[in-house]
Amino acid sequence: MDNTRILFVCLGNICRSPAAEEILRTITRKAGKDWKIDSAGTYSGHKGELPDRRMHAAAGKRGYSLTHRARPVSIVDFLDFDMIVAMDDDNYETLRMMAPDTESENKVVRIRDFFNEDRTDTYVPDPYYSGREGFEYVLDLLEEACENIANGKRNS
Ligand code: 4NP
Repeated sequence: MDNTRILFVCLGNICRSPAAEEILRTITRKAGKDWKIDSAGTYSGHKGELPDRRMHAAAGKRGYSLTHRARPVSIVDFLDFDMIVAMDDDNYETLRMMAPDTESENKVVRIRDFFNEDRTDTYVPDPYYSGREGFEYVLDLLEEACENIANGKRNS
């Protein structure tokens, strides 16, 4: 599974998906894999912004430097990526509706497909209105899912 192209998508593209992008980039680089990894949002209101400072700080403590600039998902993304990973069911439904054809629609998956099998979570919760623990929990989920994505380990 080399040269895999993966796009992570959340709502604002300033918390969950830019963190996922950097975590998977770190894991795959360490493993010597040359993957194309990016992130985007279903909502364009934060376009051009750096990640939320709370996510920047929490990720920084774990060694991830977040430098992504927020951007909205575009139709071209459905051609440019092999797999589009939605953080929650709203993102998933929005992406499936946006997909220009069946092949593109089938590229959209839920991140829960990559959680460990013993996990009961079904999505990555939006941390925007949460406290610091919310950001730590998001990073725990993302590290687990990205490890499984990198190893081709899908639970459904
Ligand atoms: P994200 O978090 O989808 O993980 O980037 C959010 C960021 C901004 C907003 C909501 C969620 N917002 O409502 O502006």
